[in-house]
Amino acid sequence: MRFGCGVSSHDRSGHSRHTAHFRTLQQTDNRGLSAREALSAVVGVPASPSKWGGARLRGAMADLLDVKGLETRFKTRDGVVHAVNGVSFSIKEGETLGVVGESACGKTVTMLSLLRLIPAPPGKIAAGTALFQGSDLLTMTEEEIRHVRGARISMVFQDPMTSFNPVLTIGRQLTEPLELHLGMSQAQARERGVELLRMVNIPQAEDRLNDYPHQFSGGMRQRVMIAMALSCTPQVLIADEPTTALDVTIQAQIIELVKRLRDEIGMAVIWITHDLGIIAGLAKRVLVMYAGYIIEEAPVKELYGNPLHPYTLGLMGSLPRLDDQEHRRLVSIDGLPPTLYEKPNYCPFAQRCTYVYERCWKENPLLLPVGVDHRAACWVDVKAGSHRE
Ligand SMILES: Nc1ncnc2c1ncn2[C@@H]1O[C@H](COP(=O)(O)OP(=O)(O)OP(=O)(O)O)[C@@H](O)[C@H]1O
Ligand code: SF4
Ligand SMILES: [Mg+2]
Repeated sequence: MRFGCGVSSHDRSGHSRHTAHFRTLQQTDNRGLSAREALSAVVGVPASPSKWGGARLRGAMADLLDVKGLETRFKTRDGVVHAVNGVSFSIKEGETLGVVGESACGKTVTMLSLLRLIPAPPGKIAAGTALFQGSDLLTMTEEEIRHVRGARISMVFQDPMTSFNPVLTIGRQLTEPLELHLGMSQAQARERGVELLRMVNIPQAEDRLNDYPHQFSGGMRQRVMIAMALSCTPQVLIADEPTTALDVTIQAQIIELVKRLRDEIGMAVIWITHDLGIIAGLAKRVLVMYAGYIIEEAPVKELYGNPLHPYTLGLMGSLPRLDDQEHRRLVSIDGLPPTLYEKPNYCPFAQRCTYVYERCWKENPLLLPVGVDHRAACWVDVKAGSHRE
């Protein structure tokens, strides 16, 4: 399975958008270009943001993606893993949502479920809706979801190696979707492939098109994956730990590129990371996940300044500052999360929580408002030191 550019020839707006603005950088060294200029050349984003970025942003700030009650399970030999347990969130045009949480809490499975990329069996989306511009991603036909995936919602995968075909060159994998979906000739697609590689700072881009995925370092594969994901200027970019394997300079450039696209064309971004510094500089709102649940959600300033769930408090360790330039990782918390072989009818954090009391073992708290745009799933008001109703 490959998820390159993936723009459908039926996606008329996407198609014309790309072909109309396409120009090549044949004799240009685009290392000297700004991100916007490079993108203008590579993916058809106008160099002037006012051309259509503004128009797209002028529209009503309706939810672009609205997920409700998402549940995903895996049937394994040891039992049914309840990986995602009633996750609900939404995102608007141009918004950036950070997603944090320790390993195996369901971040990746949530996003793969939205794109219907869960292997079935053993996986199954058991409940929920995911409205993308009013259409439910979870009940679309295969044909319809293929037109969304890669083109309108694209994803940078956590492990790019599993997303490339090991027996095809990077060039083939970059250019095939451009030929298929944007109707480019082989030569045009190859030229554009070179530009895409340059955009993410792959040296000797022309030669590297002939190489196979295993001939690239992990960081380079990650950058190629980012270029592929951005190549169609998607409306929603899901980035799953996209910059972990990259050195800080490249990391900063990629983040800058994504920010510009977000601001200029109104692309919504869902950014999964363990890096609190990235979240502080990029996201407007943050979801904190634990054991397949969202256990806290708040605007980034509010979450950093006023975390209200004991898990978030623990995760943050010494509280990060919003102007923190350090790439501080989430702190690990003593103890282990529950196995997820059953959907708990108690608070899933109870085993590890210092605030636990008897109600926590009897009822799983719902995610409820605890402030302005702030929701938390906890029976205790940790600030007031009292129990919630
Ligand atoms: N194909 C699968 N079969 C069985 N269980 C799976 C499968 N894929 C994921 N899971 C389980 O689903 C749960 C959530 O996994 P997920 O990959 O979403 O975690 P994550 O939050 O992205 O973690 P990390 O930060 O390590 O990437 C885990 O318990 C995982 O073992
Ligand atoms: S509900 Fe109870 S166990 Fe769960 S996080 Fe709150 S205080 Fe801790
Ligand atoms: Mg993951």
